[in-house]
Amino acid sequence: MFDLLPLAPPDAILGLGEAFKNDPNPNKINLSVGVYKDEQGNTPVLASIKEAERRLLEKEKSKGYLAIEGLADYGQQVQEMLFGAGHPILKDKRAVTAQTPGGTGSLRVAADLLRKHFAAAKVWVSKPTWANHQAIFQAAGQLTDVYTYLDSTGKGLDFDGMIASLEKLPAGDIVLLHACCHNPTGIDPTPEQWKKIAAVIKDKKLLPIVDFAYQGFGDGLEEDAVGLREIAATGVDVLVCSSFSKNFGLYGERVGALTLVTNTAEAAQRALSQVRISIRCNYSNPPTHGGALVAGVLNDAALRKQWEGELAAMRNRINKMRHLFVDTMKKLKPEKDFSFLISQKGMFSYSGLTNMQVDELKTKHAVYVVGNGGRINVAGMTEENMPKLCAAITAVL
Ligand code: LMR
Repeated sequence: MFDLLPLAPPDAILGLGEAFKNDPNPNKINLSVGVYKDEQGNTPVLASIKEAERRLLEKEKSKGYLAIEGLADYGQQVQEMLFGAGHPILKDKRAVTAQTPGGTGSLRVAADLLRKHFAAAKVWVSKPTWANHQAIFQAAGQLTDVYTYLDSTGKGLDFDGMIASLEKLPAGDIVLLHACCHNPTGIDPTPEQWKKIAAVIKDKKLLPIVDFAYQGFGDGLEEDAVGLREIAATGVDVLVCSSFSKNFGLYGERVGALTLVTNTAEAAQRALSQVRISIRCNYSNPPTHGGALVAGVLNDAALRKQWEGELAAMRNRINKMRHLFVDTMKKLKPEKDFSFLISQKGMFSYSGLTNMQVDELKTKHAVYVVGNGGRINVAGMTEENMPKLCAAITAVL
């Protein structure tokens, strides 16, 4: 029977990672998949995580199942990261959180939940958005569409267009927003713009899903939560999909969270009971290890401080690479202005390279970036690979 199946194309992002692995060129550069690299080009295990892991191995007594929603104190820690300790949402127990396998896992649980209870609602994503967003909601059976995001220069936010798009949506429809470090463009709304977005969501009775995959990679843990907190402050229900792949460097451990914010503690418990059903039919209950490491770091003041320092170091290195890239390109190709990269946030920027240039970068120069806008992972740049990278980009421009 399987010989009848058509051959699917490789994944737009992870497929490039595979192609990169198989490329024999010793000078190859991978700016495709969103993984942080240090100055030596390695993806390190954070020292705070190593210590949490050492402690975990010492005290772990069982490999039994977790509860369907995961570790007991995990939800509290995640909610404090999202809203701040002592926030009224936490005090009133209006939020519930489930530990999920990565941010993708939380998106899929959310998608199943929404499909089951709000089947008629369409899911609106920014144009452009992460290559997997529409696929996840469509796989759950949800209809998807796009709202305006990028302006015609490809370097900034079309804020008026975005607001006009959102204002046209029917009440009850679902809007997916990137909390910070927009993937793939690196272009985020300002705090003032978030206020307006939040007001439109409330006004038009939309249901927001906030994808929070890069908390701490933009301006800081608190600063990056401004948009989410503005939305929550309007009193609307919110879904938050957190990923701890990047900020804890726990990519392969698959650890994230789905948080639902509601209006009452009672509604929160009802929502959680439905989330449990979604999870049970999906992967039954979450893997322990990654969640235990995140909780281990967040529960210990010293480890948390160390982790915050490590997160700041990752953020600062990325920003340094943004500047170095812009300066290097200015020398090699002064007529082409890349200074827009400096105000963009997080791992990614849209380089504006055409699909043909992206292809040529790969085949002629062994430089891997994601097509359709030429998304570059700035976190994959190093002082060492910068000259070769910029020379290759200059050659294809
Ligand atoms: C990315 O966008 O590169 C990351 O979020 C990794 C992934 O799963 O696509």
